[in-house]
Amino acid sequence: MDQHETINPSILYYGTPVLILSTLNEDGSTNLSPLSSSWALGDCLVIGLGIQGKAYENLRRHPECVVNLPDASMWRKVESLGRYTGTYPVPEEKKQMGYEFCSEKFKAAGLTAQDSTLVQPQKIAECPLQIEASVQHIRTPEHTPYMAVVEVKALKVHAQQKLISGPNKIDPAKWDPLIYNFRHYFGLGERQGENFRAE
Ligand SMILES: Cc1cc2nc3c(=O)[nH]c(=O)nc-3n(C[C@H](O)[C@H](O)[C@H](O)COP(=O)(O)O)c2cc1C
Repeated sequence: MDQHETINPSILYYGTPVLILSTLNEDGSTNLSPLSSSWALGDCLVIGLGIQGKAYENLRRHPECVVNLPDASMWRKVESLGRYTGTYPVPEEKKQMGYEFCSEKFKAAGLTAQDSTLVQPQKIAECPLQIEASVQHIRTPEHTPYMAVVEVKALKVHAQQKLISGPNKIDPAKWDPLIYNFRHYFGLGERQGENFRAE
């Protein structure tokens, strides 16, 4: 068995699906923020969000969002949003990291805005899965004051028809999430097996 070493990684993005979060700007337009820190259980989703970003500011003012899930083929679109923030002026710390202001993220990434059914922020037409959601809690952990833990409730899930294998079912063989793995984009590899409760 391989030996382990203790390390202090500067990033700990250990491979989670990318999402693009739609939030409502003060002028009624929609901001898009690429994120990867999230998990979902039942209708509860939890998102890790930097407090210097526009998404955080928007969610505090207007507690609705859409979790748009791009598939692996969309990594360039995600990355084309990568250097932007909807916060103006750009916070000094983010400026030093190379971030620039952008107020029209749909246009910047060549994505299509689609009205949502239950929430005000618009969803992304190209994303195969779109989850309209409402914010339940926002908490800032004491040990990481620069980020917030945002708990949202899924209100409505939209799935592209090609992914649907039966009533209320997504076919896991057809859904190809985009995985953010230590800042590199991956698709899924081969199926290895299944859980005893898999359908
Ligand atoms: C693939 C990807 C994943 C990211 N994951 C996160 C994340 O989980 N949480 C976060 O706060 N920022 C994350 N970021 C950085 C944000 O996208 C960045 O802070 C951006 O400026 C947010 O946009 P906004 O300020 O308009 O909300 C990620 C960026 C990329 C490209």
